[in-house]
Amino acid sequence: MTIVEVLKLSADYLQKHGADSARLDAELLLAHALKLRRLDLYLKFDRTLGEAELTAYRGLVARRAKGEPVAYLVGHREFMGLDFEVTPDVLVPNPDTEVLVQRAVAIAREAAGPVRVADVGTGSGCIAIAITHYAPNAEVWATDVSPAALAVAGRNAARHHVEERVHFVEGDLMRGLAGEFDLVCANLPYLAAEAKLPAEVTAQPARALYAGDGGSALVVRLLADVPARLCPGGKVLAEIDPAIASAVTDVAGRCFAGRRIHRDAGGRERVLEAWS
Ligand SMILES: C[S@@+](CC[C@H](N)C(=O)[O-])C[C@H]1O[C@@H](n2cnc3c(N)ncnc32)[C@H](O)[C@@H]1O
Repeated sequence: MTIVEVLKLSADYLQKHGADSARLDAELLLAHALKLRRLDLYLKFDRTLGEAELTAYRGLVARRAKGEPVAYLVGHREFMGLDFEVTPDVLVPNPDTEVLVQRAVAIAREAAGPVRVADVGTGSGCIAIAITHYAPNAEVWATDVSPAALAVAGRNAARHHVEERVHFVEGDLMRGLAGEFDLVCANLPYLAAEAKLPAEVTAQPARALYAGDGGSALVVRLLADVPARLCPGGKVLAEIDPAIASAVTDVAGRCFAGRRIHRDAGGRERVLEAWS
């Protein structure tokens, strides 16, 4: 079978098994199996696959059809134009999170001098690393309760040559961090335990997904801690699910002097920004 034939068959198969982006998934998996760039699949449409290549590819497609995220199968994911290593120990970086990072980079770049940033619940390190990559005046202290996630994040910092400006600390929320910050960023778990989610989401670590009180518990606990940890003029940016937006903005109203919500590309309430 040729590349073009295999892609057609596997994309149809993945679509029948409920993949939202079946053709793209098929291309990413095939490029990975053949050690080619995705673009090369189009340049080599008539190339015939060997038996070993077909077997390897079939295995990947079968796992994808059962709900494993493509990023876990190929071992990486693009976020903010940067390529991040991804393993089942970390949340797959999500395009919705770019709303938070773009705002963080804008805030950092507006500052006259160095900016001290905290990234709480860093996972793969994608927020901390993208901020330091795009804002050369930023230095980030990134925390997580998962040592396995911090190991992945450390490798990602080295991959993007920012390890001297990103410091990883294991601990609950900001407990392991000293000093005050100009900016606190957080994409903490915010889903309710009873939420009905696709297999692709539940394949990710439970402690990267769920929080108590309908999903708001960790964000609310962080918001209560942050005012004492901000430099004068400092801000917090917290990613949220629209389902907890009103609970979180109510709490922010009590803890901070000002607040606003940023929406994602789909128009959903996605990031709380608050300041003292
Ligand atoms: C939703 S994931 C986000 C990961 C990454 N920041 C991103 O945007 O892709 C949340 C992360 O918070 C971590 N986490 C959960 N509870 C935490 C806590 N109490 N303190 C610090 N990190 C926590 C999880 O281990 C997970 O890596």
